[in-house]
Parts: sequence; structure tokens; C-alpha cells
Amino acid sequence: MPKTPDYFKGKTIVITGAASGIGRATALIFAREGANVVCADINESGVKETIEKINDLGNQALALTIDVTDRAAVNEMVELAIDGFGRVHFLFNSAGAAIKRAKFLEIDDDLLQRTFDLNFKGTFYAMQAVLPHMLENGGGTIVNIASMAAKRGGPGSSVHYAAAKGAVNSLTLGVAREFAKQNIRCLSISPGPIKTPFAAAAASSPELLKRFLDDVPMGRFGEPEEIGELVLFMCSDACPFMTADTVYVNGGGGWR
Ligand SMILES: NC(=O)c1ccc[n+]([C@@H]2O[C@H](COP(=O)([O-])OP(=O)(O)OC[C@H]3O[C@@H](n4cnc5c(N)ncnc54)[C@H](O)[C@@H]3O)[C@@H](O)[C@H]2O)c1
Repeated sequence: MPKTPDYFKGKTIVITGAASGIGRATALIFAREGANVVCADINESGVKETIEKINDLGNQALALTIDVTDRAAVNEMVELAIDGFGRVHFLFNSAGAAIKRAKFLEIDDDLLQRTFDLNFKGTFYAMQAVLPHMLENGGGTIVNIASMAAKRGGPGSSVHYAAAKGAVNSLTLGVAREFAKQNIRCLSISPGPIKTPFAAAAASSPELLKRFLDDVPMGRFGEPEEIGELVLFMCSDACPFMTADTVYVNGGGGWR
């Protein structure tokens, strides 16, 4: 929660991956706090559904159908957000996926490329697009999504994804430190298994599901809102000395 009541009222956040899961939950949490929410996703109907939920709360929102791997589209996303609301205070990069499970020796160029394009480049493009505007306007906060996989390495199924999320953490660290004196804070979150379509796809068999849950001392998946509330805290005025790091949210364990 913010230190100052109504801290988020009238401020604007851009969220990628806002059609589903963690991105959608975070969009609704920022709307609850009175923020303007720019919801971007490649899934047109999903992003519209998120906007309808936000409108039900009586908040302002903008739905954008974009592919975060397309630099021009990402630049346009930020331009449209600024045109719509005048200023962007926060960016949350949630768009991402493991794309496909594969053993290390089966990761081909296409899978490697697509995984880095979505998880790393998409985040990189959005940060480059919004930073000049944030710098001109006195600062801002960027939150990226990494994964517990970056700590575990994803052996046997997702080294490509783990490595891309590790790169997201390095990107977060570098940008946070480069712009630390200019009132830019940049953080990432490394979730363990969270109950979203992403996790449903990963835990595609009862055995796999049991393996994941056996690895989480709390014995359950996290809820997407449990990540969204942390994004809110990170963007708030309650943690001005917090930047550059990743925060693990995993019920005490994480992806095996
Ligand atoms: N759910 C988990 O257990 C978990 C754990 C660790 C990290 N993560 C990360 O959290 C983030 C959110 O995942 P989620 O669980 O909410 O999954 P999700 O599948 O519910 O949401 C991901 C969203 O990203 C969108 N997206 C995919 N490709 C895109 C593209 N090219 N351009 C724009 N949007 C695109 C999808 O349409 C979807 O709406 C991802 O980066 C994921 O890697 C999830």
C-alpha cells in the first residue's frame, strides 16, 4: 500500500500482458487505487475484457492490442498512453511465457529466439520507449517480471526461459543503477508458481503439478493478486530506497 492515501489517484500505469493472469490482476489493483490503466496485450479480446472490468470499477483505461516483440508497436503504445493521459508514471512489463518446454539439447534457434524476443526484448523495448518520457517528467518506476526459474536454471524443461528471465534481472539492475540519481526506480519480481493460464500450461499433468506443489512449503500456487499487490507497493511512495533488485514471491519454494 502507498504511504500517502490516494497516492495512485490520477497517475498512469502502462501494463503489458494485461489480458490475462498477473498483468490483468495488477491492472485491476491499480484501477482500485484510482490509477489510469493502459492495458496492452497481443490478445485483443482478453485485453478488452480487462478494460470492461476496469470500467465497471468506474476507472479510466485504454486497451491496446500490441505485440511487445515489435519495437514500433511498443513505441506507439507509450505514445498513445502519453496522448491519452498526459503522463506515464509507471510501467509494468508482465507479457512473457516459456513458449514451449524442451530439454536443453532440444532447444533450437527458433525457440531460443522467440523466448528471448518475448521475455527479454519486449521488456527492453518498453523500457527504452518510456524512459525518455519519465526522465523529462521528473522520474518514474518500472517493474519487470522475471521468474524463480532464473534462480533454478530450468533444468530439463526450460533453460531457454530461465536464461531469458535471468537477462531480465540483469536489465533491471543495469537500468536501475544507470538512472538511480534521476528518480527512476526499477525492480523485478521473481514469482514461483502462480495460478494463471501460464502455470496451468506448465503443470499439464497431475505428476508435474504434484512436483511443483511438493516444492512449495506453503503447498499451494500463488494467486496473481499476490504479485499485483507487490507491484503496487513497489510503485508506491512507501519504498523510495528500493531499486535494482528482484523480489522472490514463492511460498518458500519455487519451480523445480
Ligand atoms: N504464472 C507463473 O507461475 C509465473 C511464474 C514466474 C513468472 N511468470 C511470468 O509472469 C508473467 C505473466 O505471466 P502469467 O502467469 O500472468 O501468464 P498469462 O499467460 O496469464 O499472461 C501472459 C500474457 O502475456 C501476453 N503476451 C504473450 N505474448 C505477447 C506478446 N508478444 N505481446 C504482448 N503480449 C503478449 C499473453 O497474451 C497473456 O495475456 C510472464 O512474464 C511469465 O513469464 C509467471
